[in-house]
Amino acid sequence: MEGAGVRLRRAFGHGDSERVDPFLMLDDFRGDRPADYQRGFPWHPHRGIETITYMLAGQVEHQDSLGNKGVIGTGDVQWMTAGRGIIHQEMPVGSEGGRMGGFQLWANLPARDKMMGPRYQDIAASAIPERVLADGSRVRVIAGAFDGLTGPVEGIVTNPDYLDLELAPGADLRHRVEPGKSAFVYVFGGEGRIGEGPVVGDSSIVFLGSGDSVRLRATGSVPFRLLLCAGMGLGEPVAWHGPIVMNTQAEIELAFRQLDEGTFLGG
Ligand code: FE2
Repeated sequence: MEGAGVRLRRAFGHGDSERVDPFLMLDDFRGDRPADYQRGFPWHPHRGIETITYMLAGQVEHQDSLGNKGVIGTGDVQWMTAGRGIIHQEMPVGSEGGRMGGFQLWANLPARDKMMGPRYQDIAASAIPERVLADGSRVRVIAGAFDGLTGPVEGIVTNPDYLDLELAPGADLRHRVEPGKSAFVYVFGGEGRIGEGPVVGDSSIVFLGSGDSVRLRATGSVPFRLLLCAGMGLGEPVAWHGPIVMNTQAEIELAFRQLDEGTFLGG
């Protein structure tokens, strides 16, 4: 349970951040019962990280301390760089029939950018390029590149890749991953094999080892749905408390003192 009582699956989080640096956490908030998600994530701060929200169904209404207000709809992405600080709320609203689905990934910022000004990249579903392959597989490119397509997210220090793949039954695909990047695959439908690993299905997380490519195979009778994310590790110390991730405990204490004193956004 997170926020004001949202039932979600945490694919990875605290404790896993070293093996998948620069990524900190991945939450999967798919659900079809409004009681599981509608209490949402009321006003809360972030500092030192980026939060990346990708919607599959339903929408999230958000507003923040900068006066921004909007809706992240089905297929849309919000890439929020919290930098030195933002206070926002994120309230899920189901589609007709009550369906809700999406992911929130947290990516760390390097020490030199933790106190940068906050920045949003709001990307509409229509702005995310999609490649349909000969076998009917589909790949949406949110960040990074695939088969000559480049994702619309720009200027992120860790040079991330973020792909949404729907592999047709029988598909066998090799995707290049830049050497030195940490990468993971998260499965959200169907069955298949990641590299030479075992068959995995819905809600599986697979952290990739070092190398320069990954083989993805759809072994089931329905499409194999997955996210593939990769990014350059920061190799910096991580001091993490709730929604704030810094390099030292002193920086964490300062952030919480500023929240208490009402100076978190002003400094
Ligand atoms: Fe948040």
